[in-house]
Amino acid sequence: MNITIVGTGYVGLVTGTTLAELGNTVYCVDIDEDKVAAMQQGVVPIYEPGLEEMFLRNIQSRRLFFTTNLNEALQKSEVIYLALPTPPGEDGSADLSYVLNVAEKIGEAMTEYKVIVNKSTVPVGTADTVRETISAVTDVPFDVVSNPEFLREGFAVEDSMNPARVIVGSESEKAREIMSKIYQPFTNTGIPIIFMDEKSSELTKYAANSFLAVKITFMNEIANYCEKVGADVDKVRLGMGSDDRIGHRFLFPGIGYGGSCFPKDVKALIKSGKKEDFNFQLLEATENVNQNQKTILVSEIENYFDGDLQDKKIAVWGLAFKANTDDIREASSLDNIRMLLEKGAEISAYDAIAEQNVRKILGDKIKYATDMYSALENADCLLIATEWSEFQNPNFEMMAEQMKNKAIFDGRNMFALEQVESTGFFYKSIGRKTIK
Ligand code: UDX
Repeated sequence: MNITIVGTGYVGLVTGTTLAELGNTVYCVDIDEDKVAAMQQGVVPIYEPGLEEMFLRNIQSRRLFFTTNLNEALQKSEVIYLALPTPPGEDGSADLSYVLNVAEKIGEAMTEYKVIVNKSTVPVGTADTVRETISAVTDVPFDVVSNPEFLREGFAVEDSMNPARVIVGSESEKAREIMSKIYQPFTNTGIPIIFMDEKSSELTKYAANSFLAVKITFMNEIANYCEKVGADVDKVRLGMGSDDRIGHRFLFPGIGYGGSCFPKDVKALIKSGKKEDFNFQLLEATENVNQNQKTILVSEIENYFDGDLQDKKIAVWGLAFKANTDDIREASSLDNIRMLLEKGAEISAYDAIAEQNVRKILGDKIKYATDMYSALENADCLLIATEWSEFQNPNFEMMAEQMKNKAIFDGRNMFALEQVESTGFFYKSIGRKTIK
C-alpha cells in the first residue's frame, strides 16, 4: 500500500520507517526543508537504538521517501497518517492547530477517497473536529481513523515492530478493512488489533499514559514513606509486583517521571476533564506529587551541606529524561540542575548522548565532562539523574580518587546497598536506608 506520513518527529519517523519495513511504500512529509534534505541523504534526525539501520535499509529498497511536497505525496497515497505535534497550549490543553491546519490542506488537495489516520495524541473528539475541518473544504469521500501510538523512546523500534496491541478507532467498515490490511503482518504474528469507536480510541491513549504516570507516582510515595518507617522500597516493589494483577513494570521509584508524553498527557487529560466540568482528582494529585519528587534530592543535598550550597561542586551523571534517549524534555535532571545553580552550586555533568541537547538550553552555565569519572573531579557530591547502564557498576575507588568528598545522591537506585556499603561513600537513594 502507498502511505503518506505528515510530520517526521519521533512518532512520524518511527511509524513511517516501520510501515516501510512492513512492505509499504511510504512518503514522509515535513515542512522543515533542511531536515528533509538530511533525511534524503540518509541522516536520521533522532537518536534511537536500531532505527538508523532500518531507516537506511528501507531508503535503499525504495520503500521510504522524504519530501516537503504534501500534495504530491497525497496524490500517490490512499492512507495519510497525521503525526503532528500537539503541544500543550498556555492553559495545558493540547494545541490542535498543526493537526487542523494539515487536515484542511489535505481536504483542499484530495481528489479521491482517503483514510486520514490520527497518530498524534489528541483529546477526545478530535477525530470529529478533523472530519468537520476536511468536510468544510471538500465533497470527496474520506474517513478519519484514530490509531494512537504507544511506543517508548529508547525502545521505539522494538515497540513499533512488536506492539502489545494496535488500537483502531473507526466505525467505517471500509476504513477498518484498510487498516486491517496495513497491520496484517502484526495480526499474522498474534498481535491483536482492537477496533473501537474514535472517541474510546482517543481516550485509551490518555488513559494508558496517565495510568502509568499514576503507577510510578504511587511507588514514589511508597518510597518516600519507606524512608520514614525504615522499610526498603526494592523489597516492597518485588513483593507487590509478583502479584500479576500489579506486575513488575513501571514500579521503579525515582526522581519523578518526565519526557515528552506523561507530563503533557496528564495535564491535557486534567484540562479536558475541566471542560466537561469533571475533576480528575487522582491526576491532579499525581501532578503535584511528581513535581515534588523531581527535586526531592535537592533538599537532601542541601541538608547534607547544612543548607549552604554556595560554590559546592556537584557532579551530575545523566541528563536525558531516561536512559537510551537523547531527549531532555521535562527531564528531572534539568529541574535539579536549575535549583542547584540557583543555590550557588557549580555543576559538572556527564551524558554522552544528551549533552548536545542540554548545551542548547543551559549553554555554559554548567560544565560538560567527557567521561563519567572526569565529571567527578574535585566534586563535593555526585547526583545520579538518569539510569544509563554505564553507571551501574562503577569503580568506587576511582570515584573516590576524583572526588573531594565521598557522597552520592542517587535518583535512580542504580546500586544495590551491599555494593556501596564497604566503599566508605555516603549513599542516599530513593526509598531505601541511607548509608552513612
Ligand atoms: C511513554 C509511554 O510509556 C509510551 O507508551 C507512550 O507512547 C509515550 O510515553 P516514554 O515517554 O518514551 O513513553 O518513556 P517511559 O519509558 O514510559 O518513561 C516515562 C518516564 O517515567 C521517564 O521519566 C522514566 O524515567 C519514568 N519512569 C518509568 C519511572 O520513574 N519509573 C518507572 O518504573 C518507569
